[in-house]
Amino acid sequence: MSHDGYADKLMNGTALAKRVLAGVREKVSKVVAATGVTPALATVLVGDDPASAAYVRMKRRRCEDVGMKSLLIESPRGTTTEQLVREIEKLAEDDAVHGILLQHPVPKPIDRRAAFETIPLAKDVDGASSAALGRVILGIPTFVPCTPAGIMRLLLEYSVDLDGTHAVVIGRSPILGRPMASMLINRHATVTLCHSRTRNLEDIVRGADVLIAAIGRPEFVRAGWIKPGAVVIDAGYNAGNVGDVEFELALETVSLITPVPGGVGPMTIATLIDQTADAAAAQLGAS
Ligand SMILES: NC(=O)c1ccc[n+]([C@@H]2O[C@H](COP(=O)([O-])OP(=O)(O)OC[C@H]3O[C@@H](n4cnc5c(N)ncnc54)[C@H](OP(=O)(O)O)[C@@H]3O)[C@@H](O)[C@H]2O)c1
Repeated sequence: MSHDGYADKLMNGTALAKRVLAGVREKVSKVVAATGVTPALATVLVGDDPASAAYVRMKRRRCEDVGMKSLLIESPRGTTTEQLVREIEKLAEDDAVHGILLQHPVPKPIDRRAAFETIPLAKDVDGASSAALGRVILGIPTFVPCTPAGIMRLLLEYSVDLDGTHAVVIGRSPILGRPMASMLINRHATVTLCHSRTRNLEDIVRGADVLIAAIGRPEFVRAGWIKPGAVVIDAGYNAGNVGDVEFELALETVSLITPVPGGVGPMTIATLIDQTADAAAAQLGAS
């Protein structure tokens, strides 16, 4: 379906990410000029999940686009928690590495929490550790989980006033739903956080001025549930470029909506790269 006539309802994450990355390129040049050191992101990829490998390729390409170094540490399926922790400890101690990203999902039976907790706060550019999440909840500056942070940037870009609104977040994962709810609370929204045990989800969604779908189920949120004039952020990314919201029909109802692809995804990557440049500047004394 053509989206002509609806263009003013689409939140263009691709365009905003391009602008963010242009700013990052300048930050990186300044760090290099001041210190002679090129900021570097180390990505740890465990196992052989093709989707994870594709995300990692995209992130590495964006690093290189802005003049940053990108290191890839690949560990085979079957890697133990201890081996992974040791790998991350080496990166934590390496002065040439400024940001560490452990690509999730990490294959079972690895204790992913133990792995994330090994990333020191100064290099936790994906906001994956419990220390980062604690800071997000309390509104203390830190490197934040990239997907909700990218969403907050989109909301700001499109002048969505959150103060006093009812925001509904569906999904409570540590990297997305939970920090998202905290960030919205910190911007004075009244937040309902929903998950798979939530009763009367449909009714709750009907009351949302701002809806964030972060479930991972194609078109799970039906257009008929959405309040007319709501702002809808679709963080879901399912096979066939399908989001978590019944997008085509929702377009009729919403005031703003993120497309899939081209909404949340590019902003996640841009936030990661931006935070890595900031981490390098801080570690090299070039902030
Ligand atoms: N665009 C991006 O950059 C980006 C980045 C990260 C993730 N994503 C996408 O965002 C989606 C969510 O990712 P995630 O990592 O947060 O996933 P996740 O860890 O699997 O969490 C999914 C959440 O959805 C909830 N849920 C599942 N079925 C539900 C139902 N029937 N009703 C209500 N809630 C339900 C789960 O509830 P329980 O907690 O009760 O199980 C859980 O909290 C996925 O599509 C993923 O691909 C996109």
